[in-house]
Amino acid sequence: MITKSLKGIMVLAAMLVSFLSPAQNRLIVNADQGDIKINKHIYGHFAEHLGRSIYGGIWVGPDSNVPNEDGYRKDVMQALINLEIPNLRWPGGCFADEYHWTDGIGDPSERPKMVNTHWGGVTEDNSFGTHEFMNFVEKIGTEPYITGNVGSGSVEEMSKWIEYINFDGVSPMADLRRKNGQEEPWKIKYWGVGNESWGCGGNMTPEYYANEYRRYATFARNYEGSKLYKIAGGANDWDLNWTDVLMKNIPLHMMDGLSLHYYTVTGTWENKGKATEFDKQEYLETLRKAARVDELLTKHSTIMDKYDPEKRIGIILDEWGTWFQVEPGTNPGFLYQQNTMRDAHVAAISLNIFNKHAERLHMANLAQTVNVLQAVILTNETEMILTPTYHVFDLYKPHKDATLLSHDLKSEEVSFGKEKMEALNVSTSRSEDGTVNISIANINPDKKIDLDVVLRGIDAKSVTAEFITAPAINSHNTFENKEVVKKADFKDFKLNKENLKVSVPANSVVMLRAK
Ligand code: AHR
Repeated sequence: MITKSLKGIMVLAAMLVSFLSPAQNRLIVNADQGDIKINKHIYGHFAEHLGRSIYGGIWVGPDSNVPNEDGYRKDVMQALINLEIPNLRWPGGCFADEYHWTDGIGDPSERPKMVNTHWGGVTEDNSFGTHEFMNFVEKIGTEPYITGNVGSGSVEEMSKWIEYINFDGVSPMADLRRKNGQEEPWKIKYWGVGNESWGCGGNMTPEYYANEYRRYATFARNYEGSKLYKIAGGANDWDLNWTDVLMKNIPLHMMDGLSLHYYTVTGTWENKGKATEFDKQEYLETLRKAARVDELLTKHSTIMDKYDPEKRIGIILDEWGTWFQVEPGTNPGFLYQQNTMRDAHVAAISLNIFNKHAERLHMANLAQTVNVLQAVILTNETEMILTPTYHVFDLYKPHKDATLLSHDLKSEEVSFGKEKMEALNVSTSRSEDGTVNISIANINPDKKIDLDVVLRGIDAKSVTAEFITAPAINSHNTFENKEVVKKADFKDFKLNKENLKVSVPANSVVMLRAK
């Protein structure tokens, strides 16, 4: 029989042991600190005239049998409204530098057709143009971000497009807009000057592009009531010299943002991995490469700090996401790929990292919204599925415009073959009403992880949580089985004053909200 005093000694000994060997996985959240806001535009999107992104994905035309509102697919529209996307970039991508906006206005039956040389050589009938795009962003309640043509366009063409969209007074372009049915100017803010000017946008040197930018930006006018946020075409991932030359050669008052593109490619560009078939080592390779965006943002920011220590100019990561082989039997020029729990982890890790860089990162745009690359929505003729990536964006909504909180994470590792990473990946923020948001990805496919969270600085009374998980790292939704991966309530946690114990399921992304 154990006496009372012996019991007491045993409890004390257990406490001492747990004190001396603190939890293997623990997270301390500095809930009462923080002064940097996570710009909601970090959760932005991108839809290019590429494959079935616009045509068939967003736009089916008013005469289509697919349920539509004024030509826009109703299902996709509603899914994007639900996701509360903050902005949508259009019309490209590489397409932007061969797009002539005047082809996409006026009576649709009279609009000229062109060849989409970048993407599949298909006929572009220009039925989705400026009015269709601007009406769409209005319908889904998001901000437009247009990229103008530098590569094959002219200063005059871009200047007139802005006049057409933003000028309220009497002028040839404003009058033309009115004639085409739009009385009020749309007052667009985000304007990109070319895309990938180092490659598909004209194969320019950074010095040459910097000069071109100065010319184009001069005639990208700020009309009354609509000051543009001008975005210079930025570097391809690790090309730090591009950022350095642009920051040096473009007067800082002439730009507001500098773009950057970063794709996660498993294997090599020539021999990319498959979207749904991969082993665990390949899985970790993808996630490790996605996580390198942390180093990438740090490196470009450090260069920008030299010229702009106040961090006024934002990095605009206007293309990011996974790029796998296209699905068998689909047009290689359409970049259609499936989307699995691995993509969900890529999204979770990337967004966690983006939040961390919120001071310099003003916007990011997932490539791309519907049916292209790491899409949030896939469609066939009449149906739609929401991908695991969609659900991560949905889970992460509370981070938008919240205050970034610092935290200290200790995580165990997971390794497969020659790949190794921390199993947990976290971001923390505080919403305006004081709620603390904790997003956690457990990338270990085989192990539930017990995490001790210390909510330092708040007296939390309650916690709510949601998550996504699935049996396998390649689990994904199909048109036959649309809800293999879906958002659900999460209950596996216990709050005791400032201590929160969470059992983070294997292969899951969790969002906890403490109040
Ligand atoms: O998103 C697909 C393509 O990737 C874009 O058109 C281009 O900017 C990038 O190379």
